[in-house]
Amino acid sequence: MAGGAIVNTGGGKDYPGKLTLFVFFTCVVAATGGLIFGYDIGISGGVTSMDPFLKKFFPEVFRKKQMANKNNQYCKYDNQLLQTFTSSLYLAALVASFFAATVTRVLGRKWSMFGGGLTFLIGAALNGAAENVAMLIIGRILLGVGVGFANQSVPVYLSEMAPARLRGMLNIGFQLMITIGILAAELINYGTAKIKAGYGWRVSLALAAVPAAIITLGSLFLPDTPNSLIDRGHPEQAERMLRRIRGSDVDVSDEYADLVAASEESKLVQHPWRNILKRKYRAQLTMAVFIPFFQQLTGINVIMFYAPVLFETLGFKGDASLMSAVITGLVNVFATLVSIFTVDRLGRRKLFLQGGAQMMVCQVVVGTLIAVKFGSSGIGDIPKGYAAVVVLFICVYVAGFAWSWGPLGWLVPSEIFPLEIRPAGQSINVSVNMLFTFVIAQAFLTMLCHMKFGLFYFFAGWVVIMTVFIALFLPETKNVPIEEMVLVWKRHWFWNRFIGDDDVHVGANHVSNGSKLPAA
Ligand code: BGC
Repeated sequence: MAGGAIVNTGGGKDYPGKLTLFVFFTCVVAATGGLIFGYDIGISGGVTSMDPFLKKFFPEVFRKKQMANKNNQYCKYDNQLLQTFTSSLYLAALVASFFAATVTRVLGRKWSMFGGGLTFLIGAALNGAAENVAMLIIGRILLGVGVGFANQSVPVYLSEMAPARLRGMLNIGFQLMITIGILAAELINYGTAKIKAGYGWRVSLALAAVPAAIITLGSLFLPDTPNSLIDRGHPEQAERMLRRIRGSDVDVSDEYADLVAASEESKLVQHPWRNILKRKYRAQLTMAVFIPFFQQLTGINVIMFYAPVLFETLGFKGDASLMSAVITGLVNVFATLVSIFTVDRLGRRKLFLQGGAQMMVCQVVVGTLIAVKFGSSGIGDIPKGYAAVVVLFICVYVAGFAWSWGPLGWLVPSEIFPLEIRPAGQSINVSVNMLFTFVIAQAFLTMLCHMKFGLFYFFAGWVVIMTVFIALFLPETKNVPIEEMVLVWKRHWFWNRFIGDDDVHVGANHVSNGSKLPAA
């Protein structure tokens, strides 16, 4: 996130300005970037469980699936090429996010979103028209480039447009759009799987063009953020824009002065990548790597990518498995709302710890339920009532994720970096997330085949580790203005040893330009 005097809710520095209708609409349009990400996450699992799709592109998987009743349930979808179809997108997004960081800075957030949307549109067309695996995978790579650009620019755009007091809430608004995208994809799969002629998968893949068209056309009408305008040498335009987005009756001079100061300050930083390696930023660097890493090691994307496949593995018939995926998608959306309304009151830590405990218990229960029926041979049948209990526990698990690691995995890294390391920190966060999203997507079906029900215990083990990590190493950041964040680390029992008294003074300087911060 480049520039911007960023403050947090509840105390500390604040600028006048309300949520104007103008800002609200620009934010809604920009947040559709989350929709394209979510649609991709949700669409692949349903498509890869459709027989006509498998027959056309992955005939070997289709044959294995037919045999699976007699053979091992755990292994019926294990196929590297099939996993590459799902995972290639995230690898492309990982690479694209590095380029997108530069485009976002030089050309502005708006053109970055436009470019992302356009690439995504081409990818959707290629996928919908695919005649061979190459077209499928090239299409997925283009979608990935689109996601890379959108994920880099949209959160930055939202943060810079939002009045400071509403930054946290709007940040989770992006995650809400992701979950809505996932749900939309699951509903569409449920509908298209019923198309008798067997081209349902084409409709599912091509419909990705809808959210892409919204963000592509929408971005043409989006104004640039004041921060970006200042950074690119248009100070007057920036001031006019700031007045427009905060409301014409609002005095924006204070905020404007801080934006200019922040931009100048960030231009002085020549080596953000080297700076983040400084000893005093050890805590932030650790979080930038571990939070996205742990978020993926919760195992959430096993459900998000492969829910229909997983439910079929459990013996659900095609329709029932897609329906169950829709149910988990609904739970995901509604549980995200819980975090929107509690995160600034309960705080991040409580949500992390409660959500972690809930996920862990559910994973152990699900693993055990599967073990009882399938054992390690993978041969067996799950009766209806029993399957419903499995789905129930998977839903409770998804809810736990949706109010903890889901939104917080994006929110917390975005609020802990001081300005001089913010772009570097944000890049690390996005790319580590994409890297492990890729790893899980690529490895899950093989892991299921080899680790069997133990896979659920494996993820439960990781959830224990990450919950202990949060308990020990993450201080509470709710209601702390970002400029004061250094004090949070300085007071922390572990991280304080990395921060000298001078460093706190340096941190406090960030606030000194024109700020009315009360004493900490
Ligand atoms: C994660 C995605 C995940 C989604 C589920 C996001 O925060 O980054 O990997 O699929 O939440 O809602």
